[in-house]
Amino acid sequence: MTVESVNPETSATTALSEPPLAGGGVPLLGHGWKLARDPLSFLSGLRDHGEVVRLKLGPKTVYAVTTPALTGAVALSPDYIIAGPLWESLEDLLGKEGVATANGPLHRRQRRTIQPAFRLDAIPAYGPIMAEEAYALVQRWRSGEVLDVTAESFRVAVRVAARCLMRGSYMDDRAERICTDLATLFSGMYQRMVVPLGPLYKVPLPANREFNRALADLHVLVDEIVADRRASGQKPNDLLTALLEAKDENGEPIGEQEVHDQVIAILTPGAETVGSTVMSLLLVLTEHPELGDKIRDEVKTVVGDRPVAFDDVRKLTYTANVVTETLRLHPAVWILTRRAVADTELGGYRIPKGADLIYSPYAVQRDRRSYERNEEFDPDRWIPERAKDVPKYAMSPFSVGNRKCPSDHFSMAELTLITAAVASAYRFEHAHGSDTRPRIGITLRPRRLMLRALPR
Ligand code: HEM
Repeated sequence: MTVESVNPETSATTALSEPPLAGGGVPLLGHGWKLARDPLSFLSGLRDHGEVVRLKLGPKTVYAVTTPALTGAVALSPDYIIAGPLWESLEDLLGKEGVATANGPLHRRQRRTIQPAFRLDAIPAYGPIMAEEAYALVQRWRSGEVLDVTAESFRVAVRVAARCLMRGSYMDDRAERICTDLATLFSGMYQRMVVPLGPLYKVPLPANREFNRALADLHVLVDEIVADRRASGQKPNDLLTALLEAKDENGEPIGEQEVHDQVIAILTPGAETVGSTVMSLLLVLTEHPELGDKIRDEVKTVVGDRPVAFDDVRKLTYTANVVTETLRLHPAVWILTRRAVADTELGGYRIPKGADLIYSPYAVQRDRRSYERNEEFDPDRWIPERAKDVPKYAMSPFSVGNRKCPSDHFSMAELTLITAAVASAYRFEHAHGSDTRPRIGITLRPRRLMLRALPR
């Protein structure tokens, strides 16, 4: 159904009932306090109340979608666009003119601009950089040394995205700044999303000042990256050149604001998601040392004693399954929102035009109704004979449909290479100060990992 066809549907959809209201709301904040305090268990429990349930976030009603089939239906339907609490909270960061937040024709044009850089046949060209960065980690770390894994993980994520997509050796000095800024922003934005008390965030409290400082710094950084490239006069065949050369619908160069928003909209999700997943992978390797042993054995069999190269990746099936299982249990993008652009129907319930929807890949991917021993880390569930039993859309860490992550192949190659290189060289144990509890922000990751790297 399209926006234009709303009217004939309206009478049909008004006959449908409203989804049930979830229990546990409190005056003023509604379910926001649960989403702020313990969102993972709250969202994971919602399916017991229905396939679609209503939540109150402050004064707003939000519809939570809980089953794999219905989350897939939402992601694939033109009745829903990118909007809603998540995207509103991200707007200060991502702007309105970048690919992650745009809708309709602007979004389609922007996807066309960026897509070539992420196509399957473009990925091998990034292989040497990904392998170099994976081995740089192994070489930087010393046996017995305690690693601050947050910094290490985000550093490698920023460096790979920047070096592959923006050919930016200049990123070296800026990677730390990007990581620090993003950490502040992504947790502040989650707060703004679940407790949407607008004016309160303008009060000059220390946390708000810190948030604004990080936001301003990130915008300055992106302006510097664009200005440096322009000043260099160079046009390497990369994503930044594609963005700078892009034309709008009238064949005119796209405006400065759009270039800026586009760079942010690609670099930010790229760094944050991969950084968070590398942290989760290192947590998994620490807590299940037997996985590291098996990865090392696989690398030895497939690669021998030389360093793992990009061409080896597709043969490292066990390693890739460890990455996939990590994405299942620790999906960096653990919450998503959409807005209905028409009166519509979902799971037999009425969804009014303008309604905000929310769903959680974390809850869906850990659901006992989709996975046997659902909380157990089992990479072998991704062996093809077993993977075929997983219900459709029960495993979509990169989403599906027209907003699917453009970087799914890129990210899988990168994460598999990093995991192979790191697990072949080291075992890990927790050091003082490690805190494995999940840190809830717009993305999900362990709060603070301090690991000691031990030689194999
Ligand atoms: C573990 C790694 C990653 C995960 C789990 C991930 C996950 C996702 C998900 C779930 C979406 C869809 C959001 C929605 O449906 O609302 C998305 C979109 C996006 N991702 Fe990723 N991502 C990853 C890595 C990356 C990287 C490395 C980049 C870029 C360098 C990137 C760039 C983007 C962009 C630009 C979008 C917006 C696409 C659009 O709206 O058309 N992602 N990602």
